This record gives sequence, structure tokens and C-alpha cells, in this order.
Amino acid sequence: MDRFGQVEMSGAENMMEKLLDVKDLRVSFYGDKGSVQVVRGFDISLHKGEVVGILGESGSGKTVSSSSIIKLVDESLGRIDSGEAIFKDKDLLKLSGKELKGIRGNEISYVFQNSSAALSPYKRIGKQLGEVLKTHGLPDSKDHILKTLEEVGLEDGERIFHMYPFQLSGGQNQRIMIAQCILCSPELLIADEPTSSIDASLQKTILDLLRDISTRNQMSVIIITHDFGVAKYLCDRLMVMYGGLVLEEGAIDEILNSPLHPYTQELMRCARSLAEDDETMYTIEGAPPTPYQFRDECPFYSRCSLREDACREGIPERTDIDGRKVRCIKYEKR
Ligand SMILES: Nc1ncnc2c1ncn2[C@@H]1O[C@H](COP(=O)(O)OP(=O)(O)O)[C@@H](O)[C@H]1O
Ligand SMILES: [Mg+2]
Repeated sequence: MDRFGQVEMSGAENMMEKLLDVKDLRVSFYGDKGSVQVVRGFDISLHKGEVVGILGESGSGKTVSSSSIIKLVDESLGRIDSGEAIFKDKDLLKLSGKELKGIRGNEISYVFQNSSAALSPYKRIGKQLGEVLKTHGLPDSKDHILKTLEEVGLEDGERIFHMYPFQLSGGQNQRIMIAQCILCSPELLIADEPTSSIDASLQKTILDLLRDISTRNQMSVIIITHDFGVAKYLCDRLMVMYGGLVLEEGAIDEILNSPLHPYTQELMRCARSLAEDDETMYTIEGAPPTPYQFRDECPFYSRCSLREDACREGIPERTDIDGRKVRCIKYEKR
């Protein structure tokens, strides 16, 4: 039975409890050529214990949209134009800096892309984790830290407690990063490409770890990845982003079995070609548009083999097809 099924059996009503509901989030940056919107409509909703993936080529807006949910956009560089992000009963986008500080790391944790850089090289692991607890108003308990180290699969916790990050392997540091993020038992973990900078052999271990913690603690996870394999392994649902928009969303098996959007179909064709060690490795011609090239049209227009003139008549609406969502005029009810 799949993971989703197991969770359902252990707490059906929990599974249906909505934890996060983000609607029409739009984010702009101030660039040399003026302000430019890079996220143009991002929606995500998550139940308790659910694992949702965000997938798409580099630059499609995965990091900006997911970090904006907890207002991690530097105010001097950009701004949230509109939208709402209801977490339990609060709109995160309306909270003050102080209120958000109380939520970040505590109820919602964020694992940054290239996260090992987030550990201080000059402080022992035990001290760093203790500081995380104190920052969130919790007692600096060595017992709790050792228990968390064990939870992320670091068995020699007592020894690691006294070590510095540079004395540990990349994989151990990655586990410390996850320990740091689950120390305060968050209800939601947002992990930005948590396995892209580690060896392939370690990837599975880290993914297993995230899945175990999610199941054990009923923790919801948003995982950003550009790898269908990672999404398939971990996610209940998948969202595909491109050009600052979510182009397709649905249950992972449905998307993998029958992708609706031409962009998802093309991405999967690339992934298959890579996996099959195809001599003429398939790639999508052209490059994704930069935010300055965004137009009021389908962002995939110039690269889509199924394009037609009507694709340029505005950004396609989100169409609901049996619980799946897709932005492509092929599916719009006319
Ligand atoms: N601090 C910033 N200032 C200006 N533009 C940014 C900044 N951060 C990201 N962007 C732009 O926003 C777009 C989306 O970026 P990002 O969310 O990082 O993409 P992804 O995570 O999907 O690779 C890109 O075009 C990127 O260049
Ligand atoms: Mg990113």
C-alpha cells in the first residue's frame, strides 16, 4: 500500500484537515529595468501530513513562491503584490515581522537550497541546535537535541553534539540541517531542493528520512525539486511551475501516468530520455522566458509544439479536470 493510503488509515480525519491554503500569490522584484513580476499566480493547498512537490526548470519561480509564503523575500529587493496564505486560521502575509518570527522554525520550517551554508562553521553542533531552541523560546535541552539527532539517523549523537560542521561529512551535515528544521516539531516543512547538492547514493536516505518524519509526526511537506524521480518517491501531489505560474497540478500518479499540459509532457520526455541513456538525449528546444519576457499569453507558447494563435490571447485560465488543474487552452471550456 502506498504512503498516502497508510496515513489515511491511521487518521482519516487528520488527513483531511487543511493546514495551508495559498491563493493567487504574486511577487515582484525591483530590477535595473524597473519592477518585474516573477511569480504571477501561485496557489497551493496542503492537508495535514500531506507531501506536495513543486517541479519545474530553473527560474520558473519555485523558490520565490515557496519562500514568499512565509515572507522570506527581502523587502529591499522585492515585494509581495497580492494573494493570501492562510495557515491554520491566520493569513501569513498579513502578519508582522515579530509574529512571523514566532512561526518560522517553530510551526513552519524552511530548508534552504544549498542549506549546508546555513550552518555556522565556527560553532559546535550542540551549541547551534541549542540556539535554535532558545530563539524559539524553548529550553536548550541536550536530551531533546540528542533525541532529534537520533531521529534523523545520527546514532553517535553524543559525539556529534561536540563536533563542528567541517568535521562531518556532507550527508551528516544534511541530516543536521534537517534536525535543525524539525527541532521545534513544525507542522509544515518547506524543503528547497534538499537533495540536489548531495551524492546520488545519499539522496534516497535523506528522502526516506523526510518521509519517515512526515509520517511519524503528521508533518506536511512542500518539497521543491526538478527531478520526477524524487517527486515520485516522496510526493502525494505534484505542481508543475513555469514562467511564474503553476501550469499543472494533480495527484502524483495521475500526472506521471497521463500528464495533461504539453510542458509536463515535454519535461517527462526529457526525463525518460535521460534515464534511458538515449544517445540523442532529448531536450526541449529554446529556453524558458525571463520575467522581462513575460507576456499576457501562455508562457510555454514559443517552445510548445502544439501552439496555436489562441495561446497568445491571454494567460490560460486554470481549468479543473476531475480534481486536476491545468492552464492550457486545449482544456478550457469554450
Ligand atoms: N533577489 C532577486 N532579485 C531579482 N530577481 C530574482 C531574485 N530572486 C529570484 N529572482 C528571479 O525570479 C525568478 C524565479 O526565480 P526562482 O524562484 O529562484 O526560480 P527557481 O527556484 O524555480 O529556479 C527568476 O527569473 C529569478 O531570476
Ligand atoms: Mg530555486
